[in-house]
Amino acid sequence: MSKTIIVSNRLPVKISKTDGAYHSSPSEGGLATGLGSIYKQGNNVWIGWPGIEIAEQEDKDQVTKELKELSLIPVFLDQEEINQYYEGFSNEVLWPVFHYYASTYAAYKQSNWDYYKAVNKKFRDIILSIAEPGDVIWIHDYQLLLLPQLVRQEMPDVSIGFFLHIPFPSNEMFRLIPWRSELLEGILGADLIGLHTFDDVRHFLGAATRLLPVSSSANIISNGERSVVVESFPMGIDEKRYSSLPLQDEVKEQIELIKGNFQNKKLILSIDRLDYSKGILQRLEAFELLLEQCPECIEHITLYMIVVPSRDTVPQYAHLRDEIDKKVGKINALYRTMDWSPIHYYYRSFPIETLSALYYSADVCLVTPMRDGMNLVSKEYVASRINNDGVLIMSEMAGSSKELIDAIIVNPNNTGEVCRAILQAINMPLEEQRRRMIPMRQLVAKFNTSHWVKIFMDRLKEVKLMQRSMQ
Ligand code: UDP
Ligand code: G6P
Repeated sequence: MSKTIIVSNRLPVKISKTDGAYHSSPSEGGLATGLGSIYKQGNNVWIGWPGIEIAEQEDKDQVTKELKELSLIPVFLDQEEINQYYEGFSNEVLWPVFHYYASTYAAYKQSNWDYYKAVNKKFRDIILSIAEPGDVIWIHDYQLLLLPQLVRQEMPDVSIGFFLHIPFPSNEMFRLIPWRSELLEGILGADLIGLHTFDDVRHFLGAATRLLPVSSSANIISNGERSVVVESFPMGIDEKRYSSLPLQDEVKEQIELIKGNFQNKKLILSIDRLDYSKGILQRLEAFELLLEQCPECIEHITLYMIVVPSRDTVPQYAHLRDEIDKKVGKINALYRTMDWSPIHYYYRSFPIETLSALYYSADVCLVTPMRDGMNLVSKEYVASRINNDGVLIMSEMAGSSKELIDAIIVNPNNTGEVCRAILQAINMPLEEQRRRMIPMRQLVAKFNTSHWVKIFMDRLKEVKLMQRSMQ
């Protein structure tokens, strides 16, 4: 029986070591949470890094055995590979450039690039050790841009899908990367290339046709020998899970606790991984402006802010964490009263039951990234609003703003606009909340993760048939 091999840098579970023993816990981030609920079908497997350096062979064997039970296959990275491929090339070149932070943060180092190539080959070798004719290989995200072509060279007929979970930037940004052509050639080893939005597709087609000797007709790129289809597939969430969680006893208890703690207060929720692309500092600026300009807000609103630790061994991330600490400290010190704190700030991750209770309880969800491929938090908030109330404030720079058009849409760089949006949200009549929330809930329910996987896989089959008919 043929299988689907999912490949991403990070597995949906991460391994950690406490008191000499290895433990696994769910990974954070949209790729892992989004696909994590559906990959376990049939004899599918997922190949990726377990998130920690494991040096001893005996430990590697033990972790491999435990992950096998979950249909996961680990790719072990040593410390130098983590430094140069993951932190260096993936997160100090590709992440900043693709999120339009090239001039601020990108550092182009030859050795990072060499490691990026070598680690992509390491992933290829593991794929080749388990792939059989008829299998489908589905490669994910910016850490593995060279992998489609590397696999194609060894298995010319195999079906390869590639999905990019972050924005594809305009060519003016992309072409800054010294190794831009190699990266594009790598991606074009796939048969079907999926991106979140139509703008990402347009940018990808623009970059490929400008930088490589290929032509494009509509959304098909051809080099004379192979044709590759590029399309947008906006990723969804496991809507049923989020809409049913608030009915579970454990979540209900947490909802009661939150209600008790924030009586007569408007609760504004923000949840992100630690990342400069998420606009966390700019959001705090807008919240500070609101406290400054709206005396009635004092003691009546609370920002509940969760920042999930992420990549804090990369200097820009560690710096951002310190800046957030300072800013939150300053705002709380300036505005706190005897029995009220404007910001409840948590720098850690939470189990899904707690996230659900917060999504259910928050009057407003404030999602203001400077750039975001999709943003699943916004969809999770909508899915959790089973009473059809609540207000979503959404940055126009996130992929999900193209679908969640009934949110209050803001430009995250416009502090005044974000501040006014919060005021509008906390004063919005229930009838208007429902008028906006109902269509968004319907959309999130319909275009869920299963739908996303199905349309991608169906399209990949069609593309393969099209290619064969052209041979
Ligand atoms: N998330 C999590 N634990 C937390 C907070 C958030 O697993 O404590 C999840 C959240 O539910 C969402 C994901 O992390 O599914 C973040 O995805 P998103 O697309 O919003 O952003 P990304 O982190 O992928 O940039
Ligand atoms: C984003 C990326 C994923 C990544 C996740 C968490 O969602 O698109 O590829 O896994 O962030 O980041 P990390 O660096 O911890 O894997």
